[in-house]
Amino acid sequence: MIEIRDAIRTRRLVLRPFEAADEDDMYAFESLPEVARYLYNGPRSRAENAAELARRQKLTVLRDEGDALVLAVEADGRVIGYVLLEWLSERHRQGEFGFVFHPGYHGQGYASEAAVEMLRIGFEELGLHRVIGRCDPRNEGSWRLMERLGMRREAYFVESEIFKGEWGSELHYALLATEWRASRWATAPEV
Ligand SMILES: CC(C)(COP(=O)(O)OP(=O)(O)OC[C@H]1O[C@@H](n2cnc3c(N)ncnc32)[C@H](O)[C@@H]1OP(=O)(O)O)[C@@H](O)C(=O)NCCC(=O)NCCS
Repeated sequence: MIEIRDAIRTRRLVLRPFEAADEDDMYAFESLPEVARYLYNGPRSRAENAAELARRQKLTVLRDEGDALVLAVEADGRVIGYVLLEWLSERHRQGEFGFVFHPGYHGQGYASEAAVEMLRIGFEELGLHRVIGRCDPRNEGSWRLMERLGMRREAYFVESEIFKGEWGSELHYALLATEWRASRWATAPEV
């Protein structure tokens, strides 16, 4: 079982559970159409953002498969995005990670730095064997991040679902625990 109570510090960031006081910072990116473009949700209203914040505040524990850990990412004293790790299967030791950041903080390696921490928790604390990431093939920022972290493009599903009213395709990336241990991220997590 993993429970995150204390803040995790990386080189430039603080990762910690969401708090009620994060509402405005979270709304600043959750409300943007460009952030929601390739997510299953749309841009969130104030009320939707508040409801989502209340949900995320509880997602601090990985106790059983199906649980998700969501951490707010802070830089310069404000929340600039979040990362998540979902425990897909206990028997098969599989997980999935994800990342969403405010566009004002893109292009500086912040998302990669926080995502590496989720891989570390998944492999080193939860003992996962394999972590995957999924994204829309048009979401270049997302797949470039996963390639930067050394993940393998394992699948390109063509028009495999209806996404926001049109046929959507999906890329699947993965990393194994052995590959994690051999990667430079495991020993020198500076992005
Ligand atoms: C996906 C997402 C988090 C990627 O953000 P990002 O800013 O491109 O990713 P990073 O923070 O890792 O930054 C990497 C970029 O910063 C650059 N960079 C600058 N300084 C850097 C540093 N010190 N370290 C690493 N990279 C640095 C890299 O070269 C890279 O730029 P490039 O893609 O032009 O080569 C972002 O596009 C996003 O939030 N999108 C909306 C939500 C979303 O779709 N999430 C994914 C759902 S599947």
